[in-house]
Amino acid sequence: MKPAPYRVGILTVSDRGARGEYADGSGPVILQRISQRTPWEAAEQAIVPDEEGEIVAALRRWVHAGLHLILTTGGTGFAPRDVTPEATRRVIEREAPGIAEALRAESLKITAHAMLSRGIAGIAGRTLIINLPGSPKAVAESIDILLPVLPHALNLLNAAPDTEQQHRLV
Ligand code: MTE
Repeated sequence: MKPAPYRVGILTVSDRGARGEYADGSGPVILQRISQRTPWEAAEQAIVPDEEGEIVAALRRWVHAGLHLILTTGGTGFAPRDVTPEATRRVIEREAPGIAEALRAESLKITAHAMLSRGIAGIAGRTLIINLPGSPKAVAESIDILLPVLPHALNLLNAAPDTEQQHRLV
């Protein structure tokens, strides 16, 4: 069976990146890994500042556009302007805590600083949104942790309604 051609959005959250003072290193790392290791299309890519309203607006736009997966990078830490998790919480309808738990648990094997990421994951409609930390290194490690489960996650989210019904009946 041909793998489903899911559409992915990559949102970099960075004040300096949005002002053009700093070249975004993490968005391209996500793009490269998704392009090389999945059959999915990187349909949208954007940089927004660490402003809750702007993050919410970008996420909602892509949810309404029917993207299947949105990966954010940055703004998950403890700095006063790190508000990506708060913005994401305003958009999702159902949390997917296992994804955030696994990201932190696996990342803790690499660096104790992993406990400083407040990133969350959740579902809005049929879109899965996952917060990743901001550095290119953290993003690369996080994608490697996620990739083995993402196809099944997206297939479940996009199962036909009758299949969902059958799941509930068994
Ligand atoms: N996770 C992984 N896998 N690798 C890392 O190097 N860095 C951490 C953490 N998660 C890191 C990681 C650091 S240093 C911080 S401060 C937090 O993510 C939050 O990062 P952010 O504020 O850029 O989102």
